[in-house]
Amino acid sequence: MKNLLVYLLPFLLRTCCTSQNVCEEPPDIDFGEIRSGEKAAYIESDRVQYNCNPGFVLEGSEWITCSGRKWTPTPKCLAPCIVTKQQLEAKNLLLSGNRVRTQLIQHNHMLQFQCREGHVLTVPMDRKCLDGHMDLPSCISERGKNCSCPPAIENGDIITLSKKQYKAGSSVQFKCQKYYSLEGDNRTFCDNGTWTKAPVCLEPCAISLAEMENRKIEIKRKLDGDISENIYVPRGGSVEFTCKMGYMVTTNPSQSVSVIQCNGDSIVYPECKEIVCSPPQVENGNFQPNQIQYEYEDTIETQCESGYQLQSRQATSTCTETGWSPPPICIPKNCDYIRIENGQLSDFYERWKDYYFPRRVGQTVDYYCSYGFLPRNKETRGRSSCTKFGWSPEPKCFKKCDIPRRLAHGTFNAHTRRKYIEGEEISFSCENGYDPANQQAKAVCTKNGWSPAPRCDMKKTE
Ligand SMILES: *[C@@H]1O[C@H](CO)[C@@H](O)[C@H](O)[C@H]1NC(C)=O
Ligand SMILES: *[C@@H]1O[C@H](CO)[C@@H](O)[C@H](O)[C@H]1NC(C)=O
Ligand SMILES: *[C@@H]1O[C@H](CO)[C@@H](O)[C@H](O)[C@H]1NC(C)=O
Repeated sequence: MKNLLVYLLPFLLRTCCTSQNVCEEPPDIDFGEIRSGEKAAYIESDRVQYNCNPGFVLEGSEWITCSGRKWTPTPKCLAPCIVTKQQLEAKNLLLSGNRVRTQLIQHNHMLQFQCREGHVLTVPMDRKCLDGHMDLPSCISERGKNCSCPPAIENGDIITLSKKQYKAGSSVQFKCQKYYSLEGDNRTFCDNGTWTKAPVCLEPCAISLAEMENRKIEIKRKLDGDISENIYVPRGGSVEFTCKMGYMVTTNPSQSVSVIQCNGDSIVYPECKEIVCSPPQVENGNFQPNQIQYEYEDTIETQCESGYQLQSRQATSTCTETGWSPPPICIPKNCDYIRIENGQLSDFYERWKDYYFPRRVGQTVDYYCSYGFLPRNKETRGRSSCTKFGWSPEPKCFKKCDIPRRLAHGTFNAHTRRKYIEGEEISFSCENGYDPANQQAKAVCTKNGWSPAPRCDMKKTE
């Protein structure tokens, strides 16, 4: 079996993949056929044109395209309607010009009807053909028996003048009570002693204010009418519910409004639940007050540990439907722009300070010191990094102390050509017969230079 596959594989591959046939045969459609573009094999973007049988109307485009191995769109031929002479006679109908003959009407076209003399039309006289379907109007004879009381309908009234007797072919009109919607024809006809089907008044949806109060719901757009009473939504209408302040929709918290349609079933109210917040988890910080749970619009104050700051720069967070706002989060401190005494940041950072500051942890700045001052590293340029505790080392310029070129009657201890900054010390020794001034063979670099000034004085002979 395996050998056979190996043998067949090249053949199979060739037939499947060298063939250009990307789409199958274009589809067969009812009451239509291909007019042009037919081929033995179809490749991507090939097009085929369809034609419907006489009397049929093509829906949409007559061209279909091979796209992604499929033909789109699928064409459809819509049927015409046929009204026969027999139908017209049976229903006492006439076509325009008082004609009675079998006729074909294309989809979406209108046909005008009339009734034979002595009859009345029950529905508008223009009828449309929709894919082979057309409702014929009915004609009611005016020569039939009289009718007595027209039928009463629930939640609706007859709005035409009331009579003892109604002649055949006459009609009465109905109207539904407020909020009720009428289904069917709003008239009923006297047809040989009996009334044609009366319309029905569909009940509206009642929205109970008490129920809304219980469920903590409000109506988004206030409907007209007294809000202290129940609210009625006519059939087919809709209402938008929201939860009261401090409550949120449980089913879909991202949706603050639920639209409910009145479709005859009882209203399904949205579920609202009280908005509560749990104590937040604040790393590298604390908050006050500490509670097991917080209510809507409760607030907390957050304080970050040293080296940290609030992400939002706002200490107060409020309990909202989406949780604490702003979220109480402590982040490592940012490093802000700094003015350096006796120095300044490199031109680049000075010029773009509004753009580059605050710097984040890990970022650095370079700075230079004024003449007579040095950064801690004693090089021309100082560098400071932003850490979670701020700038490190602190960008600072120190007073520079030069070693005097010459020390009369003494020498400095092997420190030649080194730069000194504030706080550093040098030591020296004096020649025989000389002593350091103030009994000290050392001096400290201060803001005001070496202190004490290194000097060798002649030994005092006593
Ligand atoms: C009315 O109905 C009666 C039977 O109840 C029938 O004999 C008569 O032909 C009908 N009249 C019309 C005009 O349809
Ligand atoms: C039918 O009603 C009309 C008035 O609506 C009346 O003139 C006529 O006499 C009535 N016909 C019969 C047969 O009762
Ligand atoms: C009855 O229905 C017709 C057509 O559907 C409409 O034009 C007419 O205004 C309606 N009458 C009443 C009172 O609603």
